[in-house]
Amino acid sequence: MNALRLLGIPLVLGLAVLAVIYIPGAQAQPAPAGAAAPDIGGPDAVWRDSSKTPDQRARDLLPRLTLAEKISLLHSDGTFTSPGLPRFNIPKLWMSDGPQGVREENQTDRFGSANHTDDFATALPADIGLACTFDMDLAKAYGDVIGDEARTRGKNIMLSPAMCIMRTPLNGRNSEYFGEDPYLAGRMAVGFINGMQSHGVASTAKHYALNNQESQRGSVNVHADERTMREIYLPAFKASVTEAHAWCVMSAYNRVNGQYCSENEFLLMQVLKKDWNFQGLVMTDWGGAHSTVGCANNGLDLEMGSNLGGRGANPHDNDFFGTALMTAVTATPPTVTMATIDDKVLRNLRVMAFTGLLDGPKIDQVKVPLMAPAHIEAARKIEESGCVLLKNDKQVLPLDATKIKTIAVIGQNANTKTAHDGNSAQIKTSYEITPLDGITRRAGSGIKVNYVQGYAGAGRGGGRPGGGGAAPADPAALITAAVDAAKNADVAIVVAGLYRSQDQEGGDRRDMNLPAGQAELIAAVAKANPKTIVVLTGGSPSVVDPWISDAAGLIMYWYGGTEGGNALARVLFGDVNPSGHLACSWPRKLSDSPAHANNDPNQYPGTSPAGGGRGGGGRGSMTADSGPQETYSEGIFVGYRWFDSKNIEPQFPFGFGLSYTQFGVSDLKLTPAGADGQVSVQATVNNTGQRDGAEVVQVYVQQNNPNPAFPRPPKELKAFQKITVAAGGNGAVSIKLDASAFAYYDPAKHAWVAEAGDYTIYAGDSSRNLPVKATFTLPQTITIKEGM
Ligand code: BGC
Repeated sequence: MNALRLLGIPLVLGLAVLAVIYIPGAQAQPAPAGAAAPDIGGPDAVWRDSSKTPDQRARDLLPRLTLAEKISLLHSDGTFTSPGLPRFNIPKLWMSDGPQGVREENQTDRFGSANHTDDFATALPADIGLACTFDMDLAKAYGDVIGDEARTRGKNIMLSPAMCIMRTPLNGRNSEYFGEDPYLAGRMAVGFINGMQSHGVASTAKHYALNNQESQRGSVNVHADERTMREIYLPAFKASVTEAHAWCVMSAYNRVNGQYCSENEFLLMQVLKKDWNFQGLVMTDWGGAHSTVGCANNGLDLEMGSNLGGRGANPHDNDFFGTALMTAVTATPPTVTMATIDDKVLRNLRVMAFTGLLDGPKIDQVKVPLMAPAHIEAARKIEESGCVLLKNDKQVLPLDATKIKTIAVIGQNANTKTAHDGNSAQIKTSYEITPLDGITRRAGSGIKVNYVQGYAGAGRGGGRPGGGGAAPADPAALITAAVDAAKNADVAIVVAGLYRSQDQEGGDRRDMNLPAGQAELIAAVAKANPKTIVVLTGGSPSVVDPWISDAAGLIMYWYGGTEGGNALARVLFGDVNPSGHLACSWPRKLSDSPAHANNDPNQYPGTSPAGGGRGGGGRGSMTADSGPQETYSEGIFVGYRWFDSKNIEPQFPFGFGLSYTQFGVSDLKLTPAGADGQVSVQATVNNTGQRDGAEVVQVYVQQNNPNPAFPRPPKELKAFQKITVAAGGNGAVSIKLDASAFAYYDPAKHAWVAEAGDYTIYAGDSSRNLPVKATFTLPQTITIKEGM
């Protein structure tokens, strides 16, 4: 029955009344041309009332909008904006990248610096470094800094955090993500979002989903089975939505099982909106829409980045969700229903309500200093806790400032400002401490710091990092100078690794080697000085053979953010005790890594690299069979799950990281699982060394049944706790696991299943150092339905 009849309103009045009263979810007709715009409501209107929930306010506002106003909310009107609702005095909605801080202002309808002078922001360390802290409090602090600065800069939505799983060390965006493990990535995302959204800034979980490489990202069709998606690639998104209540999700550029992510029925309609009951909005990646009706009916709510820099008065009318969407909804019969439009509008309005836009333009008037001292300090602490000490032979570290007279600092990356690179993850930080700056300051006047370049860097395109017009130097001469410097120093610190121009969107690294002859340089320096410490920048592991056996020390620095050099110096000199642990396995060579094991383009980077190229979206569309195809044939065996099941020795295992003290984990005790499958895990951490320090206790679960219904990895990380323990002391760790920690995903049952039987719980400080274990029996099979 017609909704108006239900309300007792005669149908003859229908069309006119519908413009004023609209029942959300009912099939309504648009107001006829020339009809008066609906009433905006008086001062008491629910939509204006900030004590009401975003949903209540959105539902009150929706029927007051004309169809044109509704459509206007569903696509951008500029580089990072949607237009707001001028008739309601609701200002534009502003977004900004990105995952490591608030990006500089861009031009209003094209990419490119707006050349502002007040758009600085704190550059946080790379997200992969955050994940290596294994510290939820720091994840929250990270989101908190970005949220605070975003609010100050008048942003409603931040396009972060990013959380695709590290499937290959070549992925150009690994530095923006949280590593290879779905549980760890989920914890980081939840902390980050909680911190950010506490400022009334909406977070965006991106890039949903399976955007695990940049090569062919705009076209590749990823084939992955449902179990692999649910167990490996989707859990961080699920945690973001169901635990942290992220308000936005960004669809990825690529295709998954035949459909672009921006119109992927399974990912958007089934998983996100049905199973996880997501109430916020799905936006495209920039230019990632490829259709009107497909996107509209399969769950996209906001089209961004199309027709940027377009010609004409209203270039965004040409967006898929511009005039074409209006045509689709007003056609007879409509190809997109009004209920579908209204659902999208509601989602946009909820986000607008959450971020304060319905309260008028005052958000833009908040002004507090950017890069506040507390933000700078948080950035430094995160780098101190997230850089990873991977080798420390004969306790070459920490440096003893009372004994050292000369330090050779070698390598262009020591003296390169990297915070300005990185495409959409770039930050305009007002200053940046390079490794050389940090070491020189900390060394003080009593220690001579002798810097030599060591190598001449090449970016992805072969250019020097950060440009620069200097004549190319002779590599052999650079190495000779470096070796001389190393010989004449008490200690040599080589800062090498990747540049942001290699670690950014739009393309992957070509191989896993260090660029620019760095391996030769390090080998020569390490032979010249037994106290050689290597510091590597980058978002991913690189091959460290053959020099690793000669280098006394190795620190993975990732990207250090604004305060990176100070953090590094504090670690080198022992002002802080390193406590980072790898968020990814570190393969010895590329072919040890699952996506590359068979050297098969079907597995990586996908076949027929013709269509789509390296860039982002594009208006072209493809059939499911056309364009590059890629199959994740390794399934759930990603990262340490692969290394463990294939018995491949990694260079450094997932979860590994050294400290200047020594820890032991002992006394593992379990309370037996009851019918609900809950198990509590207790362990003791002993600090047997001479310094206070923080240990990351990692808890892994193994199903012992040799014939489970589905193949299980040898073990999976299901909990961790970072704990600070004084020298000589001990600390207690207490962790609760629920049945989901033991479960696999069964697609046929649409459920997680923890099979009855024996499980072993391991605890230790890396995936390959698990000194204590205990076994328990799950008395009965527990099935947990996917969905809310
Ligand atoms: C990136 C997104 C980013 C967007 C807007 C795209 O190229 O993939 O991560 O948020 O641009 O800058």
